Amino acid sequence: MRIGLIGTGRIGAFHAATLATLPAVTGIVVHDADEGSARSVAEKVGAQYAGDLDGLLGAGLDGVVVAAPTAFHAELILAARRAGLPTFCEKPVAGTLEETDAVLRALEGAPVPLQIGFQRRFDAGYQAVREAIADGRLGWTHTLRACTADPTPPHPGYIPASGGIFRDCSVHDYDIIRWVTGREVTEVYATGANRGEDFFAAADDVDTAVTLLTLDDGTLATCTATRYNGAGYDVRLEACGSRGTLAAGLTDRAPLTSAEGAPWPAGTPYGGFMDRFQDAYRAELTAFTEVVAGTRPSPCTGQDARAALAVAEAATRSRKEGRPVRVAEAG
Ligand SMILES: NC(=O)c1ccc[n+]([C@@H]2O[C@H](COP(=O)([O-])OP(=O)(O)OC[C@H]3O[C@@H](n4cnc5c(N)ncnc54)[C@H](O)[C@@H]3O)[C@@H](O)[C@H]2O)c1
Repeated sequence: MRIGLIGTGRIGAFHAATLATLPAVTGIVVHDADEGSARSVAEKVGAQYAGDLDGLLGAGLDGVVVAAPTAFHAELILAARRAGLPTFCEKPVAGTLEETDAVLRALEGAPVPLQIGFQRRFDAGYQAVREAIADGRLGWTHTLRACTADPTPPHPGYIPASGGIFRDCSVHDYDIIRWVTGREVTEVYATGANRGEDFFAAADDVDTAVTLLTLDDGTLATCTATRYNGAGYDVRLEACGSRGTLAAGLTDRAPLTSAEGAPWPAGTPYGGFMDRFQDAYRAELTAFTEVVAGTRPSPCTGQDARAALAVAEAATRSRKEGRPVRVAEAG
């Protein structure tokens, strides 16, 4: 099948390299607002170059991958839909719930599927936690502890357009908590701190945050996030139940050191999301080829992305107003 890729920046270039290795993909066409970036990626992976969006959508494609900045997701998803092409779009569908709802309304009844890029759903560790909760091995789950910690902040220009730490970072934890438990988040209390560089506060954002979630069955969850984790890229989830606890991401490469001198984990700490989730990104795009082929439904729908974004919006409001916020209040 032939796949079009829109956006060849950080994640787009990585997806291009992955797509080029998938047996189901016989051709790739790339487009980016920056011609140099698209041409360079096309050359590296043996893809065709399209100078504009219409050129890409008209290049005899079977599906489209959107990896442009968030501000363009809505219009690109709708353009792919008009072209009748199954679409994979990096998270989120759009920056706000209002825009997300407008896109989802426009897609209602559309014959073409939409898959959103929450790659943790394809990580072996998170999948094992989901199975253990579903088959009752952990008993009833009382607590989930999730963390997302970047080693260093993104460049200052990224932060004002990022939507803030809850929409940009913790949203992955909100999605995966919904996914592993099969439950919905009902209430959120969030707080944050700025002890790093000034550009976070200048953008009305925080560099470190904690969200306390209450799920609809009474399970409690905490999500911690920071942009300053000197030990490495730390993304883990502990699911604690009445009969046992299971941890995802607790591998030899987890960026942790035992205060008691235990000799483990001993591997090189994960350096970033591409390193930590390489296999998951590959599985995610493989799943998209199956969605394109019509052999499976979308494993992460627009409604899933909306639900995670609603939690992020509630968390953003909670931090600003200093009070617990019902997710239904966010919309
Ligand atoms: N799932 C994940 O783990 C993950 C990780 C990183 C980024 N993302 C998401 O991927 C998206 C891209 O992030 P990034 O870090 O790769 O950004 P980036 O800035 O590195 O790359 C974006 C690219 O899109 C191009 N571009 C801008 N406007 C365009 C347009 N209208 N049409 C085509 N190309 C356009 C830019 O020239 C740039 O090359 C964001 O929405 C982000 O939320 C997801």
